[in-house]
Amino acid sequence: MTSLAQKLSTIVGAAFEALDLPHELGAVRVSDRPDLAQFQCNGAMAAAKLARKNPREVAQGVVDVLEDPLFISDNLSSLFYPILHNAKSGQKNANQAITMQAALFKTLEIAGPGFINFNVTDDFIAGHLSVVSGDDRLGIPQSANGETVVLDYGGMNVAKAMHVGHLRSLAIGDCLKRMMRVAGYDALGDIHMGDWGLQMGQIISAFEIAHPGWPYFDPGFEGDYPADAPFSYDELEEIYPRAAQGCKDDPERLDAARKATMELQDGRRGYLALWQHFIDLSLTDIKANIARLGVDFEIWNGEACVNYLIPEITADLAARGVTEDSEGAVVIPVVRPEDKKEMPPLLFKKSDGAATYGTTDVATIYDRIKTYPKIAKMIYETDLRQNLHFEQVFCAAEKAGYVDGIELKHIGHGTVNGPDGKPFKTREGKAMKFSDMVTAVMAKAEERLAEANLDETIGIEERGEIARMVAVATLKFTELSNQAHMDYIFDIDRMTQFEGKTGPYLLYQAVRIKSLLRKAEAQGFEAGETPHFVIGDEDRSLALLLTELPDHFEAAMKHYTPHVLCEYAYTLAQGFSSFYGNCHILSEENAGVRASRLALCALTYRQLEFVLNVLGIDIPERM
Ligand code: ARG
Repeated sequence: MTSLAQKLSTIVGAAFEALDLPHELGAVRVSDRPDLAQFQCNGAMAAAKLARKNPREVAQGVVDVLEDPLFISDNLSSLFYPILHNAKSGQKNANQAITMQAALFKTLEIAGPGFINFNVTDDFIAGHLSVVSGDDRLGIPQSANGETVVLDYGGMNVAKAMHVGHLRSLAIGDCLKRMMRVAGYDALGDIHMGDWGLQMGQIISAFEIAHPGWPYFDPGFEGDYPADAPFSYDELEEIYPRAAQGCKDDPERLDAARKATMELQDGRRGYLALWQHFIDLSLTDIKANIARLGVDFEIWNGEACVNYLIPEITADLAARGVTEDSEGAVVIPVVRPEDKKEMPPLLFKKSDGAATYGTTDVATIYDRIKTYPKIAKMIYETDLRQNLHFEQVFCAAEKAGYVDGIELKHIGHGTVNGPDGKPFKTREGKAMKFSDMVTAVMAKAEERLAEANLDETIGIEERGEIARMVAVATLKFTELSNQAHMDYIFDIDRMTQFEGKTGPYLLYQAVRIKSLLRKAEAQGFEAGETPHFVIGDEDRSLALLLTELPDHFEAAMKHYTPHVLCEYAYTLAQGFSSFYGNCHILSEENAGVRASRLALCALTYRQLEFVLNVLGIDIPERM
């Protein structure tokens, strides 16, 4: 099962092949001039170059093949089975070849320099849609077979408040994970917390200055450390920026922080106990935040988790001749022969022996490969500015021979700006906290629901839950409909609207279809399990849109671009809206047409629900 355009590509590709031209030049796609045709193939131009012919002549050759009924029946009868199946009479015609050919193309035309433009018959569309309706996967092929993919996103830092930027990494990472699962991968999300660098030593030594009497700092202490932290998460969050600033201003404090980091990494008992409090308090905060967004992880690792592996890896890298000594530090040169730009070596171990961000990332790759023998990809989602770091890490892992046949990919995101075009801030000019951002969007969602005078029978509790769903749809759709590497403007007023390209608009359309289908059921109308579609003028554009889903899914998978799916969901919702406005559905008197239209509505709903689900957005029962 595929999209209708892919099905046509198989047919037209075979026609190219029949003329000894490459099959892939027969690629067909939805026309970018829907006023001229439904589908187009541009391959004749490239084929003409190969064959040293005039492109229009090549195009004519292809059209001639396609118009030959025997060609169609010989080559591609399996593709036509659905049409015959859908055909009202159902019987296979004696002169099947002619039936098939006539059943396929309504028009076949050559335009301009050699474009081939197609319109397909309504029966062909109908036949295709009944197969899609009968498919649990809505025509999306499975491209993987349970191979593991680790998605590394979120990457929150211990003791540091989550901010708006985390929305980007969380929403994109979670969406990619869902996409990978649909494709057939065993996709696992790893939060990969920042819990092991200098910032840990900075906080430890700041606490040591403030509370020298705490047992964590007494090297001779042998008892049990307190189970609960003697400070709150808020205090921890406050001490961190002060500690960092202190180290900037005072070289002695920086030295102390470095020493504390080293000792922590070496396993000093009191420091580890104190550090564990940082982790526990931060995790509680992180879990509450991500639960509001409906995002989760399968792997709750941090940088520290691979600390025990570092000696082993250090030795392994040395044995493989990958590392070099550089003024007492250990580095991995990472220039590839094809690299045009300057690539600084990856710092693998500082001269004082401390591990770096690079150390833990290389070690994590090593660890993942050991832990997941079927790993096929590791995908990282962070701020764009970490691109060089990941290039270095990936190259180091390649040089070490750790990742043969494994895809490593960094997806970087841009900045979230406020309506003034500068990084999004609170009214007081501070960086916007993640939790405050979610609260603000929820409040706005409640306001919008009240304004919209939605279903009056909805009680206060359900309304709250709907507001939460609208807020999540707002946040995720805003995030995912923008291309990851671009900056975008966070405009709460615009993104919570029930009109325009927004999450709430999509929810509203989905709920509208759901309620229409409920009404139909109450009136005893049904679309049936394997519906028979009747496509007329009013149905055609929605019907054609419904043949496209697998193409958009594939494009989003291939390039890691959720915005492609957002675009499709929006087009589909709009397509439904015009369909709903332009034709009779429940009030249609012809029972066959009515059933077909209900089936179109049902399929639209399933596709919308599918895409929203991949985006991580749930649809309320009503609103
Ligand atoms: N903690 C890092 C940061 O805040 C992000 C971690 C991303 N993942 C990784 N494997 N490096 O920038």
